[in-house]
Amino acid sequence: MKHDIVILGVFVADTAYRASRQPKMGETLLGNGFALGPGGKGSNQAVAAAKAGGDTAFLSKLGKDAFADMALKTWKEAGVTPAVTQDPSSYTGAAYIFIEEGTGNNAIIVAPGAAATISPADMDANAELIGSAKVFVTQLEQPLDAAVRALEIARAGGATTVLNPAPAQKLDAAVFALCDYVTPNETETEILTGLPVTNVDQAKVAADKLLDMGVKTAIITLGAMGALYHSRTESVLVPAFKAGPVVETTGAGDAFNGGFAAAIARGTAPVDAVRFGSAVAGISVTRPGTAPSMPSRAEVEALLAKG
Ligand code: RIB
Ligand code: NA
Repeated sequence: MKHDIVILGVFVADTAYRASRQPKMGETLLGNGFALGPGGKGSNQAVAAAKAGGDTAFLSKLGKDAFADMALKTWKEAGVTPAVTQDPSSYTGAAYIFIEEGTGNNAIIVAPGAAATISPADMDANAELIGSAKVFVTQLEQPLDAAVRALEIARAGGATTVLNPAPAQKLDAAVFALCDYVTPNETETEILTGLPVTNVDQAKVAADKLLDMGVKTAIITLGAMGALYHSRTESVLVPAFKAGPVVETTGAGDAFNGGFAAAIARGTAPVDAVRFGSAVAGISVTRPGTAPSMPSRAEVEALLAKG
């Protein structure tokens, strides 16, 4: 099996609750909305990449249950090729998502289920797929040692490698050395660098620190402030696209990463690929849900054409 884009990561069923605030410990709070839909950072990124026109395979593990069926249906509809195993002794992951009324901001708990056992040996078993990718992307919802092994295989095969360090954890220079692009958001950048990131100037300082830590090119996603592309030779702030009223920002980073990967796989220059990814994210936030809010390539091109 050979695909332009190979994404390693986790699928979970997103269970999203809308409420004015989060409950306190011991409290029961009435919410004002609920939605069940496909999610998980890696799966969302694969859906975004495929819908944006990329030939995309997704590498993961599922249980054998109703949420696994949801995953398989989601990938089929989006045109993602699954490279997954199903473990009947475990369960397919799920996420609790709190969405704050008014702001659309979110807080998430992810239980990866079967995907928590993805191992370096699983990556070796998929070495042909990973090693022949043009672009390889991973995040950190599955174990880090598996991500590192996959990055090594992808790198040895000549792929462009993208690490979306989400959820964030401290990483060694040896991990960054395997990545062409590292794409944290503000919070993840703060955790990686220990520096505050509340505006673009602070993001530049933190991006410099990421370069000192071994990152080749940092792309810090800054929500409505845009995305900062930052290397030793080039620093560009790509403004965020406003495609309509913001409904839900959950999965916007995934939209960005999937769109960026699709553009890079087509040979788009890096800063233009950031622009493409930003347009994908800009549309996704105007729609509810994560994977279901990913736009088609035509929708993205139409937004880019407006400027
Ligand atoms: O990035 C958003 C995703 O993070 C959600 O879909 C949720 O499942 C969590 O994994
Ligand atoms: Na959305």
